[in-house]
Amino acid sequence: MIKKTSIYSHPLVHHLMDPEAQKGIPGVLYLENRENDDDKKVVAEIMARCFAPTLITTTSWEGFHFVGHEIRITEAVDCYGAVVWPSALVLCYFLEMNVKQYNMVDKNVIEIGAGTGLVSIVASLLGAHVTATDLPELLGNLQYNISRNTKMKCKHLPQVKELSWGVALDKNFPRSSNNFDYILAADVVYAHPFLEELLITFDHLCKETTIIFWVMKFRLEKENKFVDRFKELFDLEEISSFPSLNIKLYKAMKKNPRSAGYPQSRAWKAKAISSRLLL
Ligand SMILES: C[S@@+](CC[C@H](N)C(=O)[O-])C[C@H]1O[C@@H](n2cnc3c(N)ncnc32)[C@H](O)[C@@H]1O
Repeated sequence: MIKKTSIYSHPLVHHLMDPEAQKGIPGVLYLENRENDDDKKVVAEIMARCFAPTLITTTSWEGFHFVGHEIRITEAVDCYGAVVWPSALVLCYFLEMNVKQYNMVDKNVIEIGAGTGLVSIVASLLGAHVTATDLPELLGNLQYNISRNTKMKCKHLPQVKELSWGVALDKNFPRSSNNFDYILAADVVYAHPFLEELLITFDHLCKETTIIFWVMKFRLEKENKFVDRFKELFDLEEISSFPSLNIKLYKAMKKNPRSAGYPQSRAWKAKAISSRLLL
């Protein structure tokens, strides 16, 4: 029998979290417009959704409780996308707690930088048509986790597809067939050299009506400037903040092309494309 231990008390999780994140107390459930003192209570609730099996088996996994399901995620140690990051938990919790406002049933959803697939799995369990994407080397583990946790449990079986930011977007995701209601992204901004390409990808996948839910972990000043770049193209609304994790959850929609700043952004995009020949 597997004894479930909160991931808080499990040594495996320590590398995932800031030390402050482990001091919370369970409490209130709502997310929007919270005062900062609620932060630790909600963070504790979010993190309490994880558990690790105490029984040692040949295959290792970590467990998560969302949408009434036990989700088992296999992680790897060789790359960033191979562990579940706290931002993913924040996004899963948000999706589960806000189903009335943001109903996922039959919606077209794409996740970029899906990593181990937890967010895509939760969106699928909530009834969405999901496309989970990441770099080619991540897709095997991503597909494994998604199949294992969604088969016979979801209205629509999720798809797994390669999407390397900024690469062959017109070929693999032609604008004419992109019809996403939601774009999900957890912890996609950090010290990697593809921030421009990431922005191009958000822009490419987004129609006027698409809603982006993006969870950002604030680390270094250089990466944090990405938020300003992002605001040139998108109207950004901070939905929730978790100071103890240095995480913010944003909702964004494409700016009206006629609004201030957009032509500037177009110029930036043209420059980025011509300098890197990305598309
Ligand atoms: C910090 S991990 C977050 C993973 C997952 N969203 C989570 O929160 O657990 C960043 C993810 O972005 C992906 N990624 C990094 N650079 C990428 C690129 N150029 N194109 C596509 N995905 C990329 C990584 O493979 C990884 O899955």
